[in-house]
Amino acid sequence: MKILVTGGAGFIGSNFILYWLKNHPDDFVVNLDKLTYAGNLENLKEVEGNPNYSFFYGDICEGSIVDKAMEEVDVVVHFAAESHVDRSILDPSIFIKTNVLGTQVLLEQALKHKVKRFHHISTDEVFGSLKLEDPSKFNDRTPYNPRSPYSASKAGADHLVRSYFTTYGLPITMTNCADNFGPFQFPEKLISLAITNLLEGKRIPIYGDGLYVRDWLYVEDHCRAIETILKKGKIGETYLIGSTIEEMNNLTVIKKILKYMGKDENYVEFVKDRPGHDRRYAVDWSKIKKEIGWKPMHSFDKTLKQTIEWYTLNEDWWKRIKNGEYKEYYKKQYGEI
Ligand code: NAD
Ligand code: TYD
Repeated sequence: MKILVTGGAGFIGSNFILYWLKNHPDDFVVNLDKLTYAGNLENLKEVEGNPNYSFFYGDICEGSIVDKAMEEVDVVVHFAAESHVDRSILDPSIFIKTNVLGTQVLLEQALKHKVKRFHHISTDEVFGSLKLEDPSKFNDRTPYNPRSPYSASKAGADHLVRSYFTTYGLPITMTNCADNFGPFQFPEKLISLAITNLLEGKRIPIYGDGLYVRDWLYVEDHCRAIETILKKGKIGETYLIGSTIEEMNNLTVIKKILKYMGKDENYVEFVKDRPGHDRRYAVDWSKIKKEIGWKPMHSFDKTLKQTIEWYTLNEDWWKRIKNGEYKEYYKKQYGEI
């Protein structure tokens, strides 16, 4: 089988390629990536010389490039996106271009090349914000209510993907996943930023009161969920993917990181809140468990410790990133912290 992975040089895409080639050594993987600030081929060093892996440099918004990259492809797994909420608040336009237009270009080419499956990776953020005191969770019947330019652009993409199924019969599947963490995450998201800031002796910026809740999933569990859907998922279906953790607010997550890294709470700095900050995300993943047998396997605390260890051992990887463009972004977002 030949798989086209878009955005395979990013955090989840690179974890997925490594996972896939390890578990399916006879398959071919093509990685189409524009190498934006978030794309990093160092993530894929382990498979660089693998004859079943190739890198295709290009933008998903360019039809002629996607056309070439999709030659003889059986399955598309579409990760490529602008993925960070704070950057979408600073400058939404590239989010609309890549996430909405880029997805439509891929869908069009997928039809032309008659791919057997188009799997679209989305987020739980398209469903909006739950209240802290509300016991309910998102499921695949929850109405869309995106509240940031990032989640609005992902929602637009999701609707397009479904429309290509209903209108043209493109064989799609889709997932809306909770927040991921693990190795190779760009140090702009909460957990990767917190760990690398502490390793640099810097404080951790916490937005608002810190009582915002996310449903944290270890990235390998996400990769395994996609594998399960490619094998057993029903065409046209959407599956939600989430974790088994007790609901935990950002402060609780940060306190665990401080404890595991031997630091005290003086390393926390409360900063101005994110505009339109979604209070709580929680995912009901009973459908994927019941229908195709996936459930999360990893414990939050154990994999959080492993992730801290990974960033500690791979200082070169994130120190290189924290230079250049990152410094400008960081200053704009956080000032002098
Ligand atoms: P990331 O920002 O780490 O990586 C994105 C990758 O896409 C990069 O390699 C980048 O170079 C590439 N890319 C961006 N624009 C492109 C373009 N126009 N053409 C080709 N390549 C392009 O993102 P991530 O955290 O790995 O997220 C991957 C996907 O998973 C996204 O679709 C995101 O919405 C979704 N998702 C992420 C999370 C999370 O917690 N990170 C949770 C749920 C869903
Ligand atoms: P983030 O990692 O950006 O993911 P999401 O897409 O779910 O917003 O943020 C996770 C949570 O952490 C969210 O409530 C915002 C908060 N946060 C901070 O408090 N400080 C930070 O510096 C960042 C990046 C996030």
